[in-house]
Amino acid sequence: MTIICGDCLEVMKTFPDNHFSCVCTDPPYGISFMGKDWDHGLPSQEYWKEMLRIVKPGSHLLAAGLPRTIHRLICTIEDSGWIIRDLFMHIFGSGFPKSHNYFGINGYGTALKPAWEGWSLAMKPCDGTFAQNAEKWGQAGINIDGCRILTDELKNYSPGLHRGSLNDDGWKGRDQLKKAPKGRWPANVIFDEEAARMLDEQTKEMRASKPSKTGTAYKASGAFPIRNDIPISHNDSGGASRFFYCAKASPSERNEGLEDLPLIRSGCERMNNSDGRKEEIGESNRMTLTKNHHPTVKPLKLMEYLIKLIMPPQNGILLDPFAGSGTTILAAKRLGFEAIGIEKQEEYCEIARKRLEHFDEQKPEEQLKLKLS
Ligand SMILES: C[S@@+](CC[C@H](N)C(=O)[O-])C[C@H]1O[C@@H](n2cnc3c(N)ncnc32)[C@H](O)[C@@H]1O
Repeated sequence: MTIICGDCLEVMKTFPDNHFSCVCTDPPYGISFMGKDWDHGLPSQEYWKEMLRIVKPGSHLLAAGLPRTIHRLICTIEDSGWIIRDLFMHIFGSGFPKSHNYFGINGYGTALKPAWEGWSLAMKPCDGTFAQNAEKWGQAGINIDGCRILTDELKNYSPGLHRGSLNDDGWKGRDQLKKAPKGRWPANVIFDEEAARMLDEQTKEMRASKPSKTGTAYKASGAFPIRNDIPISHNDSGGASRFFYCAKASPSERNEGLEDLPLIRSGCERMNNSDGRKEEIGESNRMTLTKNHHPTVKPLKLMEYLIKLIMPPQNGILLDPFAGSGTTILAAKRLGFEAIGIEKQEEYCEIARKRLEHFDEQKPEEQLKLKLS
């Protein structure tokens, strides 16, 4: 079963040791988000220890968090035995300030406009070195080449034209192949389209310098040894957002496959005051009618990118213990990976199952189109 309805702590106890290949999850944030009871606290160490037990050594974990509480999330993950490897910033332009002024001082409020959320990247300790772990468990490291950022030279690259040639020194094909453009190295910053647009508006069009001989600039400066297949420049132009992955979201994706569910009012209804009372936020235009009424649905493209990064080459099974409306599991399916989601609220399980069934019902050609889109 792809979506299991239940408390993930109990469900995870039913899996054997070293079963899954990675975890990608968006757990509760611990801020009673939009007054939701499921968000009253962050998952304790018990949860992260159980995840650690059921993933293979060298597996990666990605867990989402909000600026207010992500420090606690990261410490809890680390204290549970995971090794913290990095922290992603997903920067977006669509946030709105959940600010109040019930204290009557003009021009003062209680909150900033949210413009980023974090993803903590952690790893289960390897069984020996990375190489020994790879040999024994078939996995180690993250998928750099699979997550490179597309550049103009890559878009215009034709392998036929760059096949290499025979000359006096012999066949040059392999050298040419080495120099084939690969795209930019993935960064720990990801944008959405609106944030990317705002950034490009600031930086305007910038042209990169001509590519230098791969690696030589760094090598000459003696800064540090560098793989000599990493080009210093990509000979392209555009705004500064082109250095980062940009996760495009379609407004309809959250509701696809949910046609026969009722429309439900969703949005920023209420939030907790500092004294714990629920308070109407008063931005009624933020309320929308939607079929997928989960309040924290992630963009599919973002999830696909993150999953690709941590899924090992021989695939395996991904786990999302806090699945919500099933976005992570749907993203994994669209990539052709096996995945299991756990969600404790029946209403969200139903939404998740319908989204996944809808994907399964598509013709193979349609599924392939989605995969390549
Ligand atoms: C932040 S939401 C995930 C939303 C998801 N990313 C999506 O796109 O729909 C976290 C989810 O974890 C669920 N949850 C909280 N505690 C849980 C537990 N102990 N076991 C399983 N699910 C839990 C909540 O019901 C909520 O749907």
